[in-house]
Amino acid sequence: MAVNGRPVIDSPAADTPSAAAPFYRAVGDEVEVFRAAARRGLPVLLKGPTGCGKTRFVEAMAHELGKELVTVAGHEDMTSADLVGRFLLRGGETIWVDGPLTRAVRDGAICYLDEIVEARQDTTVVIHPLADHRRELPLDRLGTTLPAAPGFQLVISYNPGYQSVLKNIKESTRQRFVAIELDFPPADIETEIVAHEAGIDGETAGTLVTLGRAIRSLDGSPLREVSSTRMLILAGGLVAEGLSLRSAVRAAVVRVLSDDPDVVRALGELADAVLPQ
Ligand SMILES: Nc1ncnc2c1ncn2[C@@H]1O[C@H](COP(=O)(O)OP(=O)(O)OP(=O)(O)O)[C@@H](O)[C@H]1O
Ligand SMILES: [Mg+2]
Repeated sequence: MAVNGRPVIDSPAADTPSAAAPFYRAVGDEVEVFRAAARRGLPVLLKGPTGCGKTRFVEAMAHELGKELVTVAGHEDMTSADLVGRFLLRGGETIWVDGPLTRAVRDGAICYLDEIVEARQDTTVVIHPLADHRRELPLDRLGTTLPAAPGFQLVISYNPGYQSVLKNIKESTRQRFVAIELDFPPADIETEIVAHEAGIDGETAGTLVTLGRAIRSLDGSPLREVSSTRMLILAGGLVAEGLSLRSAVRAAVVRVLSDDPDVVRALGELADAVLPQ
């Protein structure tokens, strides 16, 4: 299916509910770029602010390509063993247990390393040989190297708003990746997404999107992150549950974005100006 020449990935036949495609509304050429990268087995670097659709995009692409998706959430205590695997003691025996990356490499899955840069640098080093023509994973503890099965694809994401990130992905690593930049969609597409995901009418979704965009365009904003598509969907969900638009926006947007009483008050006033009385 395509809208304005851009693909929309949506649920297939209703008689196969378990195979339902995640709803993803393309914004630019990201679907075509991902498909081409997948055909070449190239790793993809996905950039974009929180709640702009990175995870949903990868889920939709994995479904379209018929590949298993292995998602790993990066965190600061993550070690390379968490990715690759480790020896464990089971019933008096020492056995090797694959980590999620190793499993994806063996199975030819898409391995989505979400916010991998949160992890220590030695963790990201293990992906280097996977991210170039070698397509292999060294399993130092086993003394072997595992070639990636056909179909294996590495996807990493990060939020360029968090500054520590760039210095954490080595330049030599970055340059092996095809980069896709996602951002909040244009108003008409975002309205469609919010209406679809929250289960609300287009007019209410449009109001939420107008507010979201007003917050995003605030000059000299003291906010660390702006109002995301996810946040607008949450507000819409509260409206679908019977809350007034005003309460929903207060609960899911205004109070969430800041703890500073002055900022919260200013955001509340902005919301009052945008929302219908
Ligand atoms: N283009 C889109 N098509 C369909 N749904 C979308 C799209 N963009 C965002 N969404 C909706 O917004 C929600 C949040 O997006 P998602 O979880 O993919 O964000 P993210 O970029 O992965 O955020 P984070 O960096 O916090 O993990 C999704 O669950 C989905 O409902
Ligand atoms: Mg995500």
